[in-house]
Amino acid sequence: MDNPHPILNQARHEQPLFFSEAIQAWVVTRYEDIYAIFQDPKRFSSNVDAQARAALHPEARAMLEAGCRKLPLLFEDPPDHTRSRNILTRLFARDAIASMEPRIRELVERLVAGFLAQGEADLVQHFTYPLPIQVIFMWMGLPMEKMDDIRRWSNELMRLLSLTPMTLEEQKACVSGVLAMQDYVAGLVRERVEQPREDGMTLLAQRLREEAGLSAEDLAMVVVMLIAAGHDTTTSLLGMAVRVLLEQPERWRQVCEAPHLIPQVIEEVMRYDTPILGTSRVAAETVALGGVTIPAGARLLLLQPSGNRDAQRFPEPDRFDPSRTNLGQHLGFGKGIHVCLGAGLARLQARVALEELTRRLPNARLVELPHHVPGVVRHHASLRVAWDAA
Ligand code: HEM
Repeated sequence: MDNPHPILNQARHEQPLFFSEAIQAWVVTRYEDIYAIFQDPKRFSSNVDAQARAALHPEARAMLEAGCRKLPLLFEDPPDHTRSRNILTRLFARDAIASMEPRIRELVERLVAGFLAQGEADLVQHFTYPLPIQVIFMWMGLPMEKMDDIRRWSNELMRLLSLTPMTLEEQKACVSGVLAMQDYVAGLVRERVEQPREDGMTLLAQRLREEAGLSAEDLAMVVVMLIAAGHDTTTSLLGMAVRVLLEQPERWRQVCEAPHLIPQVIEEVMRYDTPILGTSRVAAETVALGGVTIPAGARLLLLQPSGNRDAQRFPEPDRFDPSRTNLGQHLGFGKGIHVCLGAGLARLQARVALEELTRRLPNARLVELPHHVPGVVRHHASLRVAWDAA
């Protein structure tokens, strides 16, 4: 997990598309194969949560299916996917995201002010973890005092989806958490119908009048999905960016001196140390690809960090180089119809975060090399950074 690149490099050269008994999935490591799969939703379905549901105890599954709407978008194929994505266009409009910059900067400044005088801090605990969740709460208009509950419910949902081995009682407790979250957020959506506010939830609530058959519960699951898709991933990007820059102090110094380079630096971090380890698909039919035959129904794991270090696409892939001419081709936000809707918001947070951190901590240094926590989203367990406090 700390450095998957040597083994990914070996796979790309020796067996770029192989079946893993350990995870019961076809593992795809080359850029061109990953790209082709992202662009072909007909043959490579996103409906992978059916597997997680099937693995549940029948009693827990019945409880979930009776009360809980499906998570939209990520696990949907057209035409359901197209409909769900349309619901979100207004929320993710470029201007709407850009208008959040002053409020994001305020949050960043407040977090930095909280540890600046200390001379040393774990940035995961004090910065990269709290920032993205606070941004989503502020954007959607979720009450900050409900953060612990919503985070707990959201973790319970993730446990259900990630096939974590659990007893029936544990599964039922997780399903109860997901139902509680759906009910709570649906209540907020209904409130916004009665009393609109200046927030994302109000924009979503407007869709209730515009789209027949849509319920407050459906929209609640949209909010839940945004928290799940946008929190850990952005935490990971912020951590990767700080670590990659501080690993070689020269890189941090360059950004301090030329902050206009930050957008390019962020794209290169997305390529060089991709936050997501992999994305799943299911073969909708038997497919020949990359020299192998993948049977219908088989699961595939597309390893974006591997595709992003493929020398066929990125010359000298192990070199961190924000001046690459094809920076935007990285696979970190996916490609095709499911390409990340929140990429603009993630980039905005990362830019403001790096602008403020390099401005306030120009002589920052890593206290120790951080380790990664295992998981689909790549995380540092901690990120200890020191600086000379004024
Ligand atoms: C650095 C941070 C992020 C990374 C690395 C990331 C990565 C991804 C990737 C790889 C996908 C495609 C999944 C697939 O093809 O199955 C995706 C989809 C998505 N992301 Fe992000 N994401 C990030 C931040 C965010 C944020 C901040 C939000 C919103 C709050 C967000 C919302 C979404 C949504 C709604 C989708 C589903 C799009 C669809 O299925 O059509 N993401 N993201």
